[in-house]
Amino acid sequence: MEVRADGFSVYLKNLSIADAADFAKQVNDPETLRNVSNGQPILSYPCDEERVRMFIGKILSSDTLGHTFSFSIRLVEDGSFVGCAGMGDILVTKGCSILYWLGKDYRGRGYASEAVRLLLKCGFTRLNFEFIDAEVYKSNENSISLLKRLKFIQIKMDRETKDVEKDPRIIFRMKKEDYKDELKIVVGDR
Ligand SMILES: CC(C)(COP(=O)(O)OP(=O)(O)OC[C@H]1O[C@@H](n2cnc3c(N)ncnc32)[C@H](O)[C@@H]1OP(=O)(O)O)[C@@H](O)C(=O)NCCC(=O)NCCS
Repeated sequence: MEVRADGFSVYLKNLSIADAADFAKQVNDPETLRNVSNGQPILSYPCDEERVRMFIGKILSSDTLGHTFSFSIRLVEDGSFVGCAGMGDILVTKGCSILYWLGKDYRGRGYASEAVRLLLKCGFTRLNFEFIDAEVYKSNENSISLLKRLKFIQIKMDRETKDVEKDPRIIFRMKKEDYKDELKIVVGDR
């Protein structure tokens, strides 16, 4: 499955095992892995293609069960893999938590904002969610700016995780009633 919108530089495509080499190349950075793994030891630095292959295998099983939706983020111009975006913690028709990351060379160009806008549109108009959350470390300024730019609202500061004093996690939320993006998406198979 692919999710596209006119005028966007990137699109979303279902993640696949064949993405393991590109995924490993782009994610293998301590800061990226810390922010993506949410303190869970699923992926840790250094991360090689074999580990990523196993990780993607797990994600795909979870996608098949409808617990998650996982996508690569790709450039419209040539299909290059630049990062990933997905939905987890799915509560049917209630909501989900989104996750996204870009390889370091692809940041600062609005690609992640586009990917998150595509996820939001799918979540609210196709999956009928009431809310969509994103959880980030307080130190993660780039992700927090992205969420604020897209009008997510901070709802909670997590006080239970390890290292909470140093770097608490913040939960941002977009509620369906506050979602105003007129974006038109095309969802299809290629
Ligand atoms: C979080 C993360 C995806 C943000 O990446 P990003 O490139 O900063 O985000 P965007 O793609 O939305 O780009 C925004 C930046 O591009 C600039 N930009 C350029 N063209 C733009 C456009 N057309 N639209 C929006 N922003 C644009 C913005 O000004 C902004 O730059 P600034 O932060 O210097 O103001 C990235 O830092 C990352 O992968 N971090 C590691 C993983 C992570 O933290 N994930 C989030 C936890 S779920």
